Amino acid sequence: MPDRLFERGKTPFADRDALTDQYTPGELVGRDRELDQYRDYLEPAVWGEDPNNIFLYGKTGVGKTATTKYLLEHLERDVADYDDTNTTSVHVNCDGLSTSFRVAVAIVNELREPHNQLPESGYSTSEVYSFMWDALDNLAENPEDPKQSNIVLLVLDEVDHTEVGEDSILYQLSRAGENDKLQHVRVGVIGISNDLTFPDQLNPKVRSSLCQKKIFFDTYDAEELQAVLRQRAEIAFKDDALEDGVIPRCAAYGRRQSGDAREALDLLRAAGDRARNQNRETVCEDDVEYGIDRIQREEVIEGIQTLNEHSKYALYALLTLNAEDDTPARTRRIHERYELICDMGGYDSLTSRRVRDFLQELSMLGAVEMSEQNQGKGGGQYYEFDIAHPIQMLIRALDDVIESHGRHRSLDEHHE
Ligand SMILES: Nc1ncnc2c1ncn2[C@@H]1O[C@H](COP(=O)(O)OP(=O)(O)OP(=O)(O)O)[C@@H](O)[C@H]1O
Ligand SMILES: [Mg+2]
Repeated sequence: MPDRLFERGKTPFADRDALTDQYTPGELVGRDRELDQYRDYLEPAVWGEDPNNIFLYGKTGVGKTATTKYLLEHLERDVADYDDTNTTSVHVNCDGLSTSFRVAVAIVNELREPHNQLPESGYSTSEVYSFMWDALDNLAENPEDPKQSNIVLLVLDEVDHTEVGEDSILYQLSRAGENDKLQHVRVGVIGISNDLTFPDQLNPKVRSSLCQKKIFFDTYDAEELQAVLRQRAEIAFKDDALEDGVIPRCAAYGRRQSGDAREALDLLRAAGDRARNQNRETVCEDDVEYGIDRIQREEVIEGIQTLNEHSKYALYALLTLNAEDDTPARTRRIHERYELICDMGGYDSLTSRRVRDFLQELSMLGAVEMSEQNQGKGGGQYYEFDIAHPIQMLIRALDDVIESHGRHRSLDEHHE
């Protein structure tokens, strides 16, 4: 083995972290309308008045979280100049917090010191709620000073992941001004969702308090995406590291992914990674193509892993036929092999028709190619199937199935 397995080579990056989701951009481009509206709705907080409950919605990757972090950081900083008002923002992501109880625990823990965190069990709901009201009240700077206004902006990101009925914590928080739970602070809830139908699903009472003010975030067009990418590239890459076509290409891809800035940024990072892996300081369009290919493959692999087990067996069967140069193959042939695969794993097999349905599903996912064939005059139509990706990649995606059923002999020459 050589002395050194790891060694830094050339890189196009100046600060690669600036292309990750954790990074909060210093400036936002292409969100002028949303920013104006958002600022207006936050205005009462600047004056120490009861804050609005604001609801943001729009597709994924259109800057809802980034805009919120950006504006609230500024708000906290700017309002600190006024002696009579103090604003604090609290950010909780509701992904994985399906119950109000869990949301309340998360809010408490966001506000408590790391050594004083609340466990997920051991307390009743009403105890946890009262911890939460206390923790919020504790944010007041001078609780006994009647002239001091303390504003808390509570961001509940991905709020569609949690329960939202009339008994929910969300509803209580959005009405916190009216119930007497809080003595020293005034809370404004900022709900964020990428489910466009979410407001319609709410019961009218909840909707009217949670969505007092609504802001719709539109998708980015290709030009706006280019602006987002350019601004970020300036921080993330060295001078002149990107060839001319790189940003337009990434923006066009993001546009196709329904105007998603995250996808466009991910792609730019993947392209940069390829250049770095190949020990280059410049990123070219070919790196972008490679990045698209890699992202799409990852999607296929992830998709396969969520499929019904028998779909995976059908795909395993097709793989082995491909390895024997016996593809494209018709359903009947694949079904025979599928039966053998089920047998190897000790499972009962399903009918040929079911297997054909699985294959069609796999073709929609992009893992399998399906072509329609005609049997000539008077003959009917039939389908043929083949794998749509390199066999190694699909072997990797089916790792668990291959391990539990045993490796079919046709795959022997395809080592990992
Ligand atoms: N206008 C913008 N300027 C600079 N960067 C942006 C802009 N809009 C989005 N981004 C970046 O794109 C990525 C996705 O944005 P963000 O996380 O805000 O999307 P989102 O609307 O919250 O999506 P989701 O619904 O999936 O949570 C982030 O890395 C963010 O920093
Ligand atoms: Mg978000």
